[in-house]
Amino acid sequence: MYRETITSTNILARKLLTSNIDLPFVVISEEQTQGKGRLKRSWFSPSKKGLWFSTAFPISGKNKKIGHYNFLVSLAVSSAVETFSGLKIDFKWPNDILCGGKKICGILSEVISEDSGNIVLVGAGLNVDIELKELADDIKDKATSILIETGKSPDRDELFIELVRTLNLLYDIWEKNGLTPLYKEWIKKCATLGKTVSIAQGKQKITGTAESVNSDGSLNLIGSNGKKYKIYAGDIEYIINDQ
Ligand code: BTN
Repeated sequence: MYRETITSTNILARKLLTSNIDLPFVVISEEQTQGKGRLKRSWFSPSKKGLWFSTAFPISGKNKKIGHYNFLVSLAVSSAVETFSGLKIDFKWPNDILCGGKKICGILSEVISEDSGNIVLVGAGLNVDIELKELADDIKDKATSILIETGKSPDRDELFIELVRTLNLLYDIWEKNGLTPLYKEWIKKCATLGKTVSIAQGKQKITGTAESVNSDGSLNLIGSNGKKYKIYAGDIEYIINDQ
């Protein structure tokens, strides 16, 4: 489903779920007026400057977990961007998609409980044609776009078609061969592993080494106090010396 403008594609996807729509589906909008980021932040989504879209999947099948849908969508985004632009993409746990250490795409997953089972909404915002001067001062040194990185604007329609094609392909691989091929690919691209990081967990701030990511998407952290932590969600910061 396509829209010129919408508050948020995640909000639209949530509404569509009440109308007996078939799953899975994808909604995309040229612009979002209330784009939502993680941790209640807003997401800058100017008209025709990015791919602002949400996918909805039933969480069905043996051993399927919410984190798996994040692997799926982030791999589809990275593959489409790399094919189209030649850029090298990597991941920052849990679900930031980076280029040269700067965020080019963010992912917001939400779980919805229905009588018929759980549904996961995976919303992704990929910065395509945003210019550096359009970015707010507080994110200028942290965010980027395909245009900023390459000086070129890819055809957004073709980029999106490639992305959805890859999403379908990876979904089929997952159905046929299980999670392992996707998980291995995701780990290969995860730049967080081995880094010294800090993460807020409630009122506590944990610092340590990001040791590994489990197949459910959670992060194993060895704290600088020697304790082992399994972290399911949060926003990590890389400790500068280590970058
Ligand atoms: C993040 O904070 O990193 C997540 C950003 C997610 C933005 C996308 S854009 C499409 C979808 N609709 C929203 O309102 N948010 C997500």
